[in-house]
Amino acid sequence: MKKFNHVIVRRPCRAMIDGITSAPELGKPDYEKALRQHDDYISTLSRCGVDIIILPPDERYPDSCFVEDPALITRECAIITNPGAPSRNGEKYEIIDAVRKFFPEDRIEHIVEPGTLEGGDVMMVDDHFYVGRSARTNAEGIRQLTEILAKYGMTCSEVPLEKVLHLKTGVNYLENNKMLVAGEFVTKPDFEKYEKFEIPEDEAYAANCIWVNDTVIVPEGYPHVLEAVKSMGYTVLTVDTSEYRKLDGGLSCLSLRF
Ligand code: GLY
Repeated sequence: MKKFNHVIVRRPCRAMIDGITSAPELGKPDYEKALRQHDDYISTLSRCGVDIIILPPDERYPDSCFVEDPALITRECAIITNPGAPSRNGEKYEIIDAVRKFFPEDRIEHIVEPGTLEGGDVMMVDDHFYVGRSARTNAEGIRQLTEILAKYGMTCSEVPLEKVLHLKTGVNYLENNKMLVAGEFVTKPDFEKYEKFEIPEDEAYAANCIWVNDTVIVPEGYPHVLEAVKSMGYTVLTVDTSEYRKLDGGLSCLSLRF
């Protein structure tokens, strides 16, 4: 099934070594290695039947390679978010030109103060959007998102987060009613109706896989998740994201897919 035609990515900047992290014990990212991993990410996506827009690095924002957070793109509209991390908030001004290539001004919506929202907290399942209420996405941001989606005939539900940074840190939809769940998401009633693969604790990072047109991209180095996704019948490709993991980032955060 082909669902996505376009992908937007942003090259990592040298300042990424000062990006936000909850895991300083993993060390600082190696910038040259991160660039090679990003090259690999782009070439892997290009095998999934999508056109790729590559935005230049932006040294003002250490976390700006994680383009999923300042925008949310749906089949009907694009929503520029209001990132809750102060050092990332300005990224919303830098993603809009890329979004304008695909949406007219009257289909570009905005989350505004006092609402905050980051795209990593939003998981699309057809026309329904699960939204994590997190340290980055607040109740008012979710209220605004719900109102915007309703205008276009789409729905939204809130998932309170307990431990993880973003919703998609621990749960990702692989289409066909299939879902990868780790940690606090294993038992959440919100996801009861899906066919879930429960990820073992030691591979929790690999909950963040992405489905792109019937190929699933899995982070390199997580054999149980790799086998599980293969056994679901998908074509599977892997990309090493070790340098992005050091900044709490993963496969989904590195692109907008639509
Ligand atoms: N380092 C990615 C983020 O915290 O948003």
